[in-house]
Amino acid sequence: MNITYRKAEPSDAAALLEYLKTVGGESNNLMFGAGGIPITEEQEKTLLENYADSPHSRIFLAVDGDKIVGNSTVDGRNNPRISHRRNIAISVLRDYWGRGVGSGLMQCMVDFAKSTGAEVLSLEVLSDNARAIALYRKFGFESFGTFKKFFKIDGEYFDADYMTCDLTGAR
Ligand SMILES: CC(C)(COP(=O)(O)OP(=O)(O)OC[C@H]1O[C@@H](n2cnc3c(N)ncnc32)[C@H](O)[C@@H]1OP(=O)(O)O)[C@@H](O)C(=O)NCCC(=O)NCCS
Repeated sequence: MNITYRKAEPSDAAALLEYLKTVGGESNNLMFGAGGIPITEEQEKTLLENYADSPHSRIFLAVDGDKIVGNSTVDGRNNPRISHRRNIAISVLRDYWGRGVGSGLMQCMVDFAKSTGAEVLSLEVLSDNARAIALYRKFGFESFGTFKKFFKIDGEYFDADYMTCDLTGAR
């Protein structure tokens, strides 16, 4: 295993869509399941172009050789009153859990966010996702509320915790 981290490029579109299908089918923790996200390769390419050029948003990949094994997304907005904030999301292939890949992707996001002047990171995580919550706490995130019935999957509801991290005090 030789994991490296890099920014996602438009040429990653097809592989990333396939990756999202795989990782989506491995847990109930993401916004999507085994179907992945419902966009075409062309649309994904355009999306990746926009992220790659954005002053405040970025998609990062963890790759093992040329295989995508994790991804993370930093989302910012131009609105002046919230331009100091970024929302983040992350996933790692199950076979690679517990090997530091999530931590590597978190560090990419924190470094990027800081370099673009971000002061606060936010995220939503299922309240029973102990592994992810432990990862976020390690990076300085704190929970501040629960969204009851955040997901509804096959008729079953799942609550989510909201978490934020004050980057002006993070590592
Ligand atoms: C959450 C996720 C990104 C973590 O990725 P990972 O590669 O396993 O993370 P790491 O190996 O860097 O471990 C991070 C921390 O998780 C914690 N952790 C590891 N194993 C754990 C376990 N079995 N139970 C609870 N916490 C655990 C530890 O605090 C660890 O940090 P440490 O090794 O420095 O002590 C990954 O499990 C994943 O993609 N899950 C499915 C999708 C998902 O839940 N995404 C988040 C949606 S909000």
